Amino acid sequence: MKIKNPRALRFLSSALTLCLVAPPSYAHEPVYARKGMVVAQEPLAADVGVAVLKSGGNAVDAAIAVGFALAVTHPFAGNLGGGGFMLIRLADGRTTFIDFREKAPRKATHDMYLDTSGNPSKDSLLGWRAAGVPGSVCGFDLALKKYGTKPWAELLEPAIQLASSGFPISYPQMRSFKTSADSLSQFPESNRIFLKGGAFFDWNENFRQRELARTLERIAHKGAKDFYEGETARILAREMEKNGGLITLDDLREYQAVERKPLEGDYKGYHIITSPPPSSGGVGILQMLGMLDGTGYEKSKAGSATAYHYLAEVMRRFYADRNEYLGDPDFVKNPIAAMVDPGYIRTRRDSIDPVLATPSDQIRPGLPAGAAEGSDTTHYSIADEQGNVVAVTYTLNNGYGSKVTVPGLGFLLNDEMDDFSAKPGMPNLFGLVQGETNSIAPGRRPLSSMVPTIVQKDGKPFLVLGAPGGSMIITAVLQVMLNVMDFGMNVQDAIDFPRIHHQWKPDTLGIERGVSPDTIALLKKAGYSIEDAKPIVIARVEAILLSDGWLQGGHDERGTGKVSGY
Ligand code: DON
Repeated sequence: MKIKNPRALRFLSSALTLCLVAPPSYAHEPVYARKGMVVAQEPLAADVGVAVLKSGGNAVDAAIAVGFALAVTHPFAGNLGGGGFMLIRLADGRTTFIDFREKAPRKATHDMYLDTSGNPSKDSLLGWRAAGVPGSVCGFDLALKKYGTKPWAELLEPAIQLASSGFPISYPQMRSFKTSADSLSQFPESNRIFLKGGAFFDWNENFRQRELARTLERIAHKGAKDFYEGETARILAREMEKNGGLITLDDLREYQAVERKPLEGDYKGYHIITSPPPSSGGVGILQMLGMLDGTGYEKSKAGSATAYHYLAEVMRRFYADRNEYLGDPDFVKNPIAAMVDPGYIRTRRDSIDPVLATPSDQIRPGLPAGAAEGSDTTHYSIADEQGNVVAVTYTLNNGYGSKVTVPGLGFLLNDEMDDFSAKPGMPNLFGLVQGETNSIAPGRRPLSSMVPTIVQKDGKPFLVLGAPGGSMIITAVLQVMLNVMDFGMNVQDAIDFPRIHHQWKPDTLGIERGVSPDTIALLKKAGYSIEDAKPIVIARVEAILLSDGWLQGGHDERGTGKVSGY
């Protein structure tokens, strides 16, 4: 095209200059708000959280209300019958981590999921025996008592309303019930409630859950005690016994959520506050950041084969350590200091070939002898007007957990027992090949990959994030952090950007759609085994970035959900 008119030419060239120098022109704008924000994987629950913030509640209050609402509106992962982690940073700078991860019941044994030939059975994933003692209700109770401001019953009210009046079934929810129909239909109460006895819910049809509403009402009026010692506990224990499950009234009565000290570390001027064991994620984030720091990988730019190569190599090395050394801190000694020791990290970093993939068989868990003594989830991030931030990841493990709905109670039970190494050395649901530090024992919590994380900049909260996605959670959270910290992306672009995943074993590189074929070809040439015919979704990250007095919400459009703010 030839432009003859000099004025048009001047206009075009100044427009072009404007485009180049004008402040942020992003591929995908985040959602902006001033005062409060909730990013969650189900829109109704996100709005519940914002309503709590608007009515004067703090981020912890909102986190509890969102948690209960998701148990109604997002049965895939939201739960009363599961567990998780809540990471809190208060406006005054205090931080804490509430561990409400499920525990193995007293009757659990080391080899309980091995069949007569010594191979892992499906029992850790499906049915009554798959459930660990649920922790969510206890965790929310602890959070409210120590850090919340609102009355407990008020925070349960929106969930009760949603369960008793119902809500319209969204398209993804309609599809999700159908996709899980084979397994849900094996349990009469799940079949009746979630599949309408096989007739299925239609799009936009109202979905009411009367039993769940009654359970929530009891918990609202009698407190968390109802779940662990009251009528809810009695019904749960009775049904467990009737159906060959392991959880007893004693297990429920003894369950305690605990506060732990978050792990902290630094990366290029950012301060990272993240999840300690029984999450493996925080150690992973700190170790992988440490290995990357000083490699100069970022000079090759986001999305380059070299950047992905370095990411894959630090992931591979971390997962080798993770699977060998980590477990429930109340049972095994986690060698965290050794795993994030700068000298150790340097030796791990030095073992990375700048060009070629290191076969996983050549990577062993790397600590010197003696140093170690020892599908589906949901995440939401919240920021309030006072400056408190909260990140919660909680789960039933697999989508709809064990697929068992407790008759009379209306909620699904987790299958978190599969996160243990049912047989050390054999892969679990997420392909994780783990060791004895994460074997089954009564009262033990299984090792998790959930990693709610908060990044500080100049002493203030800067990024609040986390994700569901099994073993891919840690690598997804890492990549979103790096996209912001190293590549200067806004929070939405950082989430959208195509991700990769490596977990040591199996020795394959997972890639998302969007990684270019040229890049894939270079990675294959470097020695990676990639199944590019089958691109995968690598977790779903929900994040808030705080900058210049604005809250910027990034929701992962790989799944459903919403940024709600005001
Ligand atoms: O705690 C863990 O690591 C797993 N139970 C999380 C499961 C999960 O994220 C499934 N979601 N896609």
